Amino acid sequence: MAKPKEQWASRLGVILAVAGSAVGLGNFLRFPGTAAANGGGGFMIPYFCALIFLGIPICWAEWTMGKHGGQFGFNSCPAIFGALGRKPIWRYLGVLGLIIPVIIYMYYVLIESWCMGYAFSYLVGWINLGPDPTQYAAESVQYFNNFVGANQDGLMLDGRIHISVVVWLFVFAVNFYFIYRGLSKGIEAFCTWAMPLMAVCAIIVLVRVLTLGAPDPARPELNVVNGLGFMWNPKPLDSQHSTWVSALAQPKVWMNAAGQIFFSLSVGFGVIINYASYLKRKDDVVLAGLTASGTNEFFEVCLGGLITIPAAFVFLGVAGAERVGVFSLGFHTLPVVFEYMPAGHLFGFLWFFMLFLAAITSSLSMLQPAIAFLEEALGIGRRASVALLGMVTGMGSLFVIFFSKDLKALVFLDETIGTITIVVLAAVQTILFGWVFGVKRGARVAAEGAEMKLPGFFPFVIKYVTPAYLLLMLGLWCYTDLGRYVAQVRSDQVVALTFGLVVVVTVFLLILINIGGRRWKAETRELPGGR
Ligand code: ALA
Repeated sequence: MAKPKEQWASRLGVILAVAGSAVGLGNFLRFPGTAAANGGGGFMIPYFCALIFLGIPICWAEWTMGKHGGQFGFNSCPAIFGALGRKPIWRYLGVLGLIIPVIIYMYYVLIESWCMGYAFSYLVGWINLGPDPTQYAAESVQYFNNFVGANQDGLMLDGRIHISVVVWLFVFAVNFYFIYRGLSKGIEAFCTWAMPLMAVCAIIVLVRVLTLGAPDPARPELNVVNGLGFMWNPKPLDSQHSTWVSALAQPKVWMNAAGQIFFSLSVGFGVIINYASYLKRKDDVVLAGLTASGTNEFFEVCLGGLITIPAAFVFLGVAGAERVGVFSLGFHTLPVVFEYMPAGHLFGFLWFFMLFLAAITSSLSMLQPAIAFLEEALGIGRRASVALLGMVTGMGSLFVIFFSKDLKALVFLDETIGTITIVVLAAVQTILFGWVFGVKRGARVAAEGAEMKLPGFFPFVIKYVTPAYLLLMLGLWCYTDLGRYVAQVRSDQVVALTFGLVVVVTVFLLILINIGGRRWKAETRELPGGR
């Protein structure tokens, strides 16, 4: 196979692209909601354990396996897994590194288009919650439900022109435009200006929130300091628990922390392994991986953690700040907050535009793994692979748009792929790296060109602690949730259809892996020095 034609243009570019993939809706909407609902400041204990024992070690393993696979000319997860694992089963397990980004893209791009739609609506003054503050909350929910068609299936595709569908088409096309331009001219070039712009927007909104003081003189207790306290003081999970420490005894708190780390770092997504495959042999992966993860944590804890919930608290009190579901916080509560805030519509625009930038740098990273795969498996060019992927993800996304009632298809895909399957892929990757490829060899590959040494505990952690942690989490999930999950698929038609979508996409990709595998096998044999 010819050497990979695509390469990153600069070191900073690849770090910004990986950080761009990581920083997304997960940082600004999912994190504050998850932290506040899982014990506030106390949640940071399982959160940082997950970062240190799962997130960063797996991130280093992904960077290393990706870089190594790239030296053989492979860029897709199945081909890289096949080259490293040397048995066909690894190639087929590589399907996880495709279905995760492809299927998450199908609904993520939709939420991304809502952010764009809301930003635009603030700019032109379409969002107006009326003159009566007691009706703001109801108006906001109604605006959102109308915007996304949450009241009825099929509403968004009923033949009329809906602004949200037009925005979705636009955002979808923008994603494919950058993907078509390629790795360095598309993704890297875009992330290089989008990341700093996103940081500037986020910092402006943060300064606005932190300088709100106590906007209602009649209720001085609703102030920013108490808002930060609401978010960050360790607290019991609910009224049944008396101390915040009791939250740590709940397996679900640890699972939620790990899920958040994976989603947020884009670890276990099949993305980093693909991005790293475009590196050269002597490129650093250790410092680069740590820098990208550190950047993500800055956006998540220092920006995401300080904006949404304190802002909701100072205007809406505990009741408002407690409405912490991803959608209710982002699209129901915050528009109410902007209605109260001086110059709120301007900040509403900045906030949703910033969310859009965060989301698009992530969604671009979800397309590249499949583009690389289609090129590798079918031997087709960029134009054909972009067209094929556009068709598949376009149909999937339309499926999610059609089944819009209560966002059921979207929520189910997020649970199945965006929560459970990423843990499965992370487990598969750790076993491949720690037990099949070999920790020693992996550490050697990582050390080539590295700007800092891997910590001494890395081999032990990645070989024993990380897989044990992941398998325990999966076991616990099966014990506590599998029954509910199966019952949901069996009893709800829309959920069953959505599950069918996952199966169809998986089978389609497995067939392509089979086709590609025949060629890869021959090529892997020809590699100088074997694997
Ligand atoms: N890592 C991306 C996010 O946090 C997917 O949204």
